Amino acid sequence: MTVLVTGGTGYIGSHTVLALLDAGYEVLVADNFVNSKPEVLHRMAELAGREIPFVRADLCNNKDCDALFSEYSFDAVIHFAGLKAVGESVAKPLEYYSNNLISTLNLLKNMQTHGVRDFVFSSSATVYGDPASVPITEDFPLSVTNPYGRTKLMIEEMLRDLYKAHPEFNIALLRYFNPIGAHKSGRIGEDPFGIPNNLLPYVAQVAVGKLREVSVFGNDYNTPDGTGVRDYIHVLDLAEGHVAALKKLETGCGLVTYNLGTGKGYSVLEVIRAFSKACGKEIPYRITDRRPGDIAQCYADASKAQKELGWQAKYGLDEMCADSWRWQSLNPNGYDE
Ligand code: NAD
Ligand code: UFG
Repeated sequence: MTVLVTGGTGYIGSHTVLALLDAGYEVLVADNFVNSKPEVLHRMAELAGREIPFVRADLCNNKDCDALFSEYSFDAVIHFAGLKAVGESVAKPLEYYSNNLISTLNLLKNMQTHGVRDFVFSSSATVYGDPASVPITEDFPLSVTNPYGRTKLMIEEMLRDLYKAHPEFNIALLRYFNPIGAHKSGRIGEDPFGIPNNLLPYVAQVAVGKLREVSVFGNDYNTPDGTGVRDYIHVLDLAEGHVAALKKLETGCGLVTYNLGTGKGYSVLEVIRAFSKACGKEIPYRITDRRPGDIAQCYADASKAQKELGWQAKYGLDEMCADSWRWQSLNPNGYDE
């Protein structure tokens, strides 16, 4: 069975491609490198012990997308491709709407024409907005606060409509919590362009001496130590979650929705402490104002995925930080050697 993996040279996609190959799937990776680098393909090939079938394609470009479906054959699509920076989406909403929505529409139309029925979509815990309580179950009300989140929610709605009209589709909406960590080899990991927006890559770059100190965005939240609480999940666990979702789709399950998180929340200060332990040095930090748009806490009830997919996260925070640190310290400049 062959899987088209869009965005397969990105952070989560690259780890998932390796997990798919390990599980015996064939893959075809499609990416336009808007947020990734060709070097990752060499690293993936080295880890897989074989070439990674790859097509450079912009999924927003009709010709590129049509060519994928007419020139290659595959049985399922995992759709990671998309722009993902919340702040940038506020500044450039049209870029986000056009990239994320048009790429998805192009894929789905081609799937319909070519009879490809199994689709896994990278959604996000951001679709829960500011949840009334935690842990969050899949039936919580949905709301969003920024254009990036709105693209995720719109695509979810689009997929629910598609499924109503065409129940022959099998669709998994996977709502990721906060992916961190890296491959155990230290050869692939998260390589953000410019100054990182997210906590973990920021902390890692402070640890390696590229940035001076971490700004902790507020310590007056209603959480145990006042700093924001999130459900950090190892990217390797997340990758396995995709293999489990694909297997579920193969049973003809229709449209399904799962939280992919650990079910545990950690505060910013707990993360900084765990990372300090992993890298063996104190991470300097300073408490600053809250970041506009942030919520106090967000963590999953991950029991539905456990029950229905037989999938459960197995890595804890210490191991996530150790693996992030291995990647960052071996590759201080990411994929640029
Ligand atoms: P990433 O930016 O590392 O990977 C996305 C990949 O998609 C990149 O390689 C990029 O070049 C590619 N891409 C973007 N637009 C494209 C287009 N039009 N055509 C072809 N390729 C295109 O991001 P990631 O962290 O691996 O995230 C993967 C998916 O998961 C994204 O859809 C993201 O929104 C979603 N997600 C990520 C997080 C997170 O915190 N990392 C959380 C929730 C959901
Ligand atoms: N934080 C800091 N300092 C930083 C960066 C972050 O204190 O330099 C804090 C934030 O205030 C928050 C926590 O660390 O409390 C995590 O922040 P991230 O930016 O790493 O992650 P978010 O939870 O804000 O958002 C991420 C992705 C979203 C996605 C969401 C849920 O960026 O796209 O997880 O999956 F929707």
